[in-house]
Amino acid sequence: MCGIAGYIGEKQALPFLINGLKKLEYRGYDSAGIAIYHEGRIEVRRQTGKIAELERSIAGQTIEGTQGIAHTRWATHGVPSNRNSHPHRDTDGHIAVVHNGIIENYLELRGELEDKGYTFTSETDTEVIPNLIADCFKGDLLAAVEEAKARLRGSYAAVCMSQDDPGRLIGIRQDSPLIIGYGDDGNYFASDIPALIGYVKSYTVLKNGETAVMTKEGVTIYVDGSAVEPEVEALTMDLDAAEKGGYEHFMLKEIIEQPRALKDCLSGRISYGKHVVDLGELKLNAAKMEKINKIVMVACGTAYHACYVGRYIYEKMLRIPVEVEIASEFRYRDPILDEKTLTIVVSQSGETADTLAALAEAKRKGSHILAITNVWESSIAREAHDVIYTRAGLEIAVASTKAYTTQVLAIYLLGLYMAELKGKMIRREIQTIINELYRLPDKVQKIFDDQLDTIKAMAEKIADHEDAFFIGRDLDYVVALEGALKLKEISYIHAEAYAAGELKHGTLALIVDQVPVISVCTQKILEEKMISNIKEAQTRDGQIFAIAFEGDPVISSVADHVCYLPKTNDLLAPILTVIPLQLIAYYASVKRGADVDKPRNLAKSVTVE
Ligand code: AGP
Repeated sequence: MCGIAGYIGEKQALPFLINGLKKLEYRGYDSAGIAIYHEGRIEVRRQTGKIAELERSIAGQTIEGTQGIAHTRWATHGVPSNRNSHPHRDTDGHIAVVHNGIIENYLELRGELEDKGYTFTSETDTEVIPNLIADCFKGDLLAAVEEAKARLRGSYAAVCMSQDDPGRLIGIRQDSPLIIGYGDDGNYFASDIPALIGYVKSYTVLKNGETAVMTKEGVTIYVDGSAVEPEVEALTMDLDAAEKGGYEHFMLKEIIEQPRALKDCLSGRISYGKHVVDLGELKLNAAKMEKINKIVMVACGTAYHACYVGRYIYEKMLRIPVEVEIASEFRYRDPILDEKTLTIVVSQSGETADTLAALAEAKRKGSHILAITNVWESSIAREAHDVIYTRAGLEIAVASTKAYTTQVLAIYLLGLYMAELKGKMIRREIQTIINELYRLPDKVQKIFDDQLDTIKAMAEKIADHEDAFFIGRDLDYVVALEGALKLKEISYIHAEAYAAGELKHGTLALIVDQVPVISVCTQKILEEKMISNIKEAQTRDGQIFAIAFEGDPVISSVADHVCYLPKTNDLLAPILTVIPLQLIAYYASVKRGADVDKPRNLAKSVTVE
């Protein structure tokens, strides 16, 4: 996710801007930049790479000014490059803006502004903001920002300044975070608290829809043009706690971030009530799709489990055979595929060696390669013919969580896109699913709001055991695979996942002594079968932990503990059912005193064979 820093006060702005960006490095970025106002003009310096590169590029230069903004960019639109880096300015260079988020209607706004003669130098969505403000500017920056803000759709935390109306920074916020810091020698903006530590003793978190006008004397916050009283908090966090957003571990922060990550993944790609999925300029068009007679999905670990969801939903949606392959096996198996095969490669890091090698093997055999990844311009992104970015933001914990749910979401979007291309689903069907996808982020949030205590209690019981079994059928089985990996890799409990119908073919021999059996049970058409499988385990003294939709009338009669989830379309269940499994793994790991964010023997990205 991008990082923002801003300062206006008595001191030179540059030192805070650079140090503030450094404190935001943990958010992940691929370029950095600053803009400082001094004596009637704005100086801008931008550089791809690390902040140290930016510092090197301005070494020896005198960049004076007591008012400035700065940015670290995590690319979502436009490759990492100097011209795509922030701050962005309007055509005349009088207004500078830094932005974190996604402007969904930027193409529409860019077209309007180009028709009015504004010129653009980048591929970013952000560049529409300074030009829109310039188009509204009649001498008062606040009025221009408010008018421009009304035209923006999507998520944004943005700070802007104008050399024609100096002496103030203006910040706006919708969904992406923006924080105000109150200092003795001036005032500060930042995307996150770490940047403010050591500079301020109190802060305000700007709320959605609010506009902050910051001068060196103070800050006024407006809602719909009227000033409101800010909520000021004392800044007591240390840096480590602040980088984790106040959570004890990055993993919990990243689990809780999932509603935001899912919204970012959907942003600009679907519209409520519409049947169209916009995945940008994919080479996978109707003509190519017509020729595809097989889909192969290749990945490792959690990404492999996301592919497994794809196998079940694509065969339902497209009626095309789908094979799911572990990359380290696929790459040496001399697999049968050709130009009629679509190979989908999934990787959070985009650098996993086995997955990259599997991609090369499929490409060599003539297959069309589509990558789903979280890292812009990663090796896998560069080698694929098409790329869909998951936009999960930086994931620091070794155990993937928001990477998985955004991978699955991207897989759903691709499925609807392909179904539309092949004419396999009628528009009403696609629209129904899209409308439910729109609701998923809030349903994930509802799990956190309503079920956290239930899930934590389940985890603390499971943490007392050395073995655990995850069972499910169809899409519930696929999520059980991911649940077992999560528990295994961070709590060190020996966890396995089984197709529930498979229990009686051997595993039942291990169901004794209240061993935990985590049963994912949402697929309506298989519920009776699933209930009887659960009973098989329960009668053999298994301790049943069930994950089911709220309103399920039967599950509580066969389970010792139940986590009820908001109802959704059975096809979309994995995005919700995985959440309690992630939290069970997390709380079990905490109770067992394991190293949650950096589990033994594991690396975040396996770039070797
Ligand atoms: C999952 O929690 C692990 N971090 C691991 O299995 C991971 O999913 C796997 O190494 C693949 O990584 P990638 O998505 O970056 O390719």
